[in-house]
Amino acid sequence: VLKGPLDVQIRPTKHDLATKRDPQRVRVFDTTLRDGEQSPGATLNMEEKLLIAKQLAKLGVDVIEAGFPVASEGDFLAVKAIAESVGNLDDPPIICGLARAVKNDISRCYEAVKHAAFPRIHTFIATSDIHMEHKLKKTREEVLAMTSEMVSFARSLCDDVEFSAEDATRSDPEFLYEVYSRAVEAGATTLNIPDTVGFITPSEMGNLIRGLRNNVRGIENVIISVHGHDDLGMAVSNFLTAIENGCRQVECTINGIGERAGNAALEELVMAMYVRRAYYNGLLNRPADKLMTNINHAEIYQTSRMVSNLTGMLVQPNKAIVGANAFAHESGIHQDGILKNRLTYEIMDAKSIGLNKNQLVLGKHSGRHAFRSRLLELGYELAEDELNRAFITFKALADKKKDISDLDLESIVGDEVKNI
Ligand code: KIV
Ligand code: ZN
Repeated sequence: VLKGPLDVQIRPTKHDLATKRDPQRVRVFDTTLRDGEQSPGATLNMEEKLLIAKQLAKLGVDVIEAGFPVASEGDFLAVKAIAESVGNLDDPPIICGLARAVKNDISRCYEAVKHAAFPRIHTFIATSDIHMEHKLKKTREEVLAMTSEMVSFARSLCDDVEFSAEDATRSDPEFLYEVYSRAVEAGATTLNIPDTVGFITPSEMGNLIRGLRNNVRGIENVIISVHGHDDLGMAVSNFLTAIENGCRQVECTINGIGERAGNAALEELVMAMYVRRAYYNGLLNRPADKLMTNINHAEIYQTSRMVSNLTGMLVQPNKAIVGANAFAHESGIHQDGILKNRLTYEIMDAKSIGLNKNQLVLGKHSGRHAFRSRLLELGYELAEDELNRAFITFKALADKKKDISDLDLESIVGDEVKNI
């Protein structure tokens, strides 16, 4: 009988013990270099992958999925290079490679990751009827047999094996229970639930995890993980519900890059848990000062910029957490509030993700308070009547121009000085 959805106690893994990680925290598995690189046009060369992998280690991710070694010689060499270097840092993340549930993929994957202090093989097979019938052309019995055989082959090479049932969220739950039970029996140490086509909703995700926890044999001995795409914009919300129901690994990418509409965005998930830590710590019965992931938030912005620059995937201005406007305020009412107390319109501090500070953007919606404060920053202290006239000139200009720059302000103030 399941005691309660939140009542999971995870035994420390070898990696937790060696790196002194708290086993109860949610593990962040970053797949920017594998699923993220599958975004159209985002191809990275080996040097770029190494740079990103080093930055991911600095960010504090627990697992780096470095690539799909059988996909190409370049991918194999990149995964091997990351395993050899980043996989052997002082406080190394687990280095993982992806493999279909076939022998050649799994052997090739192990050859690439085995150089890391903590290697992982991530093997997968599709379990939805539509995938089994049209893509794999295999019966349910054949998929069950392949799961047992290939997970146990992977375990014969590596003691850390993650198993994914591709398209899990569109699979028959009863069949899914049996597939995952066979994977656990064959030695899988992490069971990953991919929402391959971004189809599930948050409450359905909660039900699915509870169903798995009640029906998969031996599931209490493994870590439950989720992987999700953002086709309906629900990937991060789905993950939060998964965590509330016992999931302890989330598979994300930086800036949410990935196939089609992308993957769950690492920075959104991590900051949601951080900003709402009182809520999550309360749910999980943990002291409120405990952080919920091992991520070093101050590296978030830098990591986002690096991934955007190297992949060429631009970040939309209104993107949560790392978009150019995420800490910018334009309206007068908001700017006035922020100048009085930042908490009126900000739920997180720009500094917490590694930005210097928030930004008050001067435009047609801005008020006198923000206008005066920016002039003071530029070194201009105007008398009340000068300020009133300059503010009228500023508003007239703001009606014609989207952004008012510091040069514009200096020219307004210059006119004011001339007029006196
Ligand atoms: O989306 C997906 O199903 C995947 C798996 C290979 C984990 O990326
Ligand atoms: Zn995926």
